[in-house]
Amino acid sequence: MKNLLIAGGAGFIGSNFIKHLLSNYDYNIYNLDKLTYAGNLKNLDNIKNDKRYHFIKGDICDRQLLGKIFDDYNIHIVVNFAAESHVDRSIEDPEVFSKTNILGTQALMDTAKRYWKVKPYDRYCREYKDGVKYIQISTDEVYGSLGITGKFTEENPVSPNSPYSASKASADMIVRAYYETYCFPIIITRCSNNYGPYQFPEKLVPLMINNALKEKPLPIYGDGKQVRDWIFVKDHCTAIDTVLHKGKLGEVYNIGGNNERENIQIVKLLLNYLGKSEQLIAYVRDRLGHDRRYSIDNTKISTELGWFPSYTFEKGLEETIKWYLDNQEWMDEIVSGDYIMYYEQMYSTSF
Ligand code: NAD
Ligand code: DAU
Repeated sequence: MKNLLIAGGAGFIGSNFIKHLLSNYDYNIYNLDKLTYAGNLKNLDNIKNDKRYHFIKGDICDRQLLGKIFDDYNIHIVVNFAAESHVDRSIEDPEVFSKTNILGTQALMDTAKRYWKVKPYDRYCREYKDGVKYIQISTDEVYGSLGITGKFTEENPVSPNSPYSASKASADMIVRAYYETYCFPIIITRCSNNYGPYQFPEKLVPLMINNALKEKPLPIYGDGKQVRDWIFVKDHCTAIDTVLHKGKLGEVYNIGGNNERENIQIVKLLLNYLGKSEQLIAYVRDRLGHDRRYSIDNTKISTELGWFPSYTFEKGLEETIKWYLDNQEWMDEIVSGDYIMYYEQMYSTSF
């Protein structure tokens, strides 16, 4: 039985991924999470008593704690979701993004490298004893912004535009360098915009659902014609599973849902599903440095590893909306806490 360290497993994608693993494999899961504002143990309520699941509260920058985790639990695989993940927050307060996203990643790799006794550089060294490996969950935002045509392939240069994406791109560079220098067994994934159950309502889809249900204005940045390539979170989980089990060490894999939509289209769709008026839409001041368009070319992961997204946008969105309607307590608990201050700070000058 393998022992997996999932960093950031109490967040949106990490919690979905832990549940995916437990339903499909007999692995021991160690979830290390600092429980920042975005981490929520309620996301894992239905598996918390599973004997294969263990929660550890802590920071990925804490090298002493990391050493103890590797010593105590004989970790074979690390999947690093832990990050500050919201672009708007990175514009207001970038420092913690560099700390967690870059230095935290490095601390995780240094600990694994020491514990796994990775040998000095050997270019042909593609497999390791016990199949140890480190998966870095990165983002398509590291590539920067596209014009009206074209797609991101893994060959695109990184060209990040926000403090968030710059911190993720920096982490990717260090991860890559550890492979090249030490033959440290890494794989990087770069996925597009996720939506689905348990997403924190600072992100477009859950924020708009929550506002619409409460008949509050729906803040659209700029002209609302920015394009994102949306993927249902369960498809992202199957893609990470595929990369984890079939991916080649040292490689980058793009992951996308083949679903480009303008923000305004998404918001109108949500209003339509919820039976709410488009009068709730409010165009507000644009995000600084706002990337215009993202679009993922999935060719590599599809042709080399056989992964394809399985959800249509309509099916994914319907499942998402249904989940938020059935779990209003989960949402209400979040939006009644520190979120009030966040929302006030972020949006009060917008309207
Ligand atoms: P999230 O903000 O919902 O969750 C992040 C988790 O990391 C939280 O549980 C938080 O408590 C934890 N965390 C933060 N700092 C930590 C630290 N120092 N030590 C330990 N834990 C810490 O984020 P998400 O949307 O689930 O994204 C997960 C990962 O996927 C991130 O690395 C993000 O960059 C990447 N990603 C996200 C998307 C998306 O659309 N959400 C798309 C592509 C890639
Ligand atoms: O592309 C992957 C990235 O997707 C991840 O790496 C990030 O962690 C994740 O947060 C997400 O980044 P975005 O900035 O694209 O997501 P967000 O939900 O914040 O915004 C999506 C689009 O909607 C973006 O063009 C900004 C716009 N927007 C967002 C909010 C919160 C609005 O118009 N109004 C809003 O209130």
